Amino acid sequence: MKALLLAGGTGSRLRPFTHTGAKQLLPIANRPVLFYALEALAAAGITETGIVVGAHEQEIRRAAGDGSAFGLRLTYLYQDRPLGLAHAVHIARDFLGDDDFVLYLGDNYLSEGVTAFVDRARQQTASARLLLTRVADPSAFGVAELDDADGTVLNLEEKPEHPRSDLALVGVYAFTPDIHEAVRAITPSARGELEITHAVQWMIDRGLTVRAETTTAPWRDTGSVDDMLEANRHVLDRLAGGIEGKVDADSVVRGRVLVAEGAVVRGSRITGPVIIGAGTVVTDSSIGPYTAVAEDCSIEDSAIAHSVLLPGARIAGAPRIEDSLIGRGATVVSGPRLSRSHRLVVGDHSKVHLTS
Ligand code: DAU
Repeated sequence: MKALLLAGGTGSRLRPFTHTGAKQLLPIANRPVLFYALEALAAAGITETGIVVGAHEQEIRRAAGDGSAFGLRLTYLYQDRPLGLAHAVHIARDFLGDDDFVLYLGDNYLSEGVTAFVDRARQQTASARLLLTRVADPSAFGVAELDDADGTVLNLEEKPEHPRSDLALVGVYAFTPDIHEAVRAITPSARGELEITHAVQWMIDRGLTVRAETTTAPWRDTGSVDDMLEANRHVLDRLAGGIEGKVDADSVVRGRVLVAEGAVVRGSRITGPVIIGAGTVVTDSSIGPYTAVAEDCSIEDSAIAHSVLLPGARIAGAPRIEDSLIGRGATVVSGPRLSRSHRLVVGDHSKVHLTS
């Protein structure tokens, strides 16, 4: 069994962050989303992994390397335009050969990994196996309709206006080489993409067996800021705390807090779960809960909760920041007469001056 991990695409819902970086490298609890996927594939016993990359290829190569740090052998496959998930399978044809494979969308975070799913796919004879979960708003996803009697998949639709069920496609699929003919047969959708959903529907229409299983384990497509924050909350809830950096006697640390080596906390209150990256300095501030501060940030005279800071962000004099994603090297400083809380989604290298 091989894997095909998708790390191309444009990440339009995560602009401006994706102007300067790959969405699959945005951090959850200070580690790129993509790393959770790489670890999950390795844990499922997969080694040979093709990774589809686009405009941010170099950045992804720098982060994931040859995959050996994860126990994988990575082959980079360049997709010159994000023409769809089925197009990504198409360009990986030579790499995949005649092997079965797991298709894993690189911006998906699955708390339970994919080991059980891959094990079942290895044991069963179906041309495709899908992973589903019940969601409140199915119209934002691929949606499956199942046969109540035997659980086979009857019908699939991509982001339907009127969903036939609340079963959304999680971004993990298992395929036999039967998928290749389907991928060649379909035509672009209304949004101009070769949809994997359509390729699987093509298989169903030709009588091939497509099975599905439903998971209740936490899962996020981290394609939007709110989903990023939610995935961050989930991982922080399982954080193993530890004070490796310096926390002075005037600071109070409560709950599970990880202060990385080389980080400094002075005169501050840290309420876990919180992670503070190496080289970050926190002074006279309140951090947490559910906040991940990356490396080399600076936070001074501020309060921040339920947020994510990317490397090198600087916050000073902000009375209350919540539910925010602050970009690399971004600066948020207060103006005079601060009185209310603020919600910010600040792009990489932006500067925000709070004045009210
Ligand atoms: O997250 C689950 C959903 O993922 C499913 O429910 C949908 O059926 C499926 O189509 C997909 O929808 P999205 O609109 O969220 O897909 P997105 O464009 O975000 O792409 C998913 C990943 O694949 C992302 O890491 C970018 C990468 N990608 C995407 C395209 C279109 C590529 O590498 N190449 C591409 O051409």
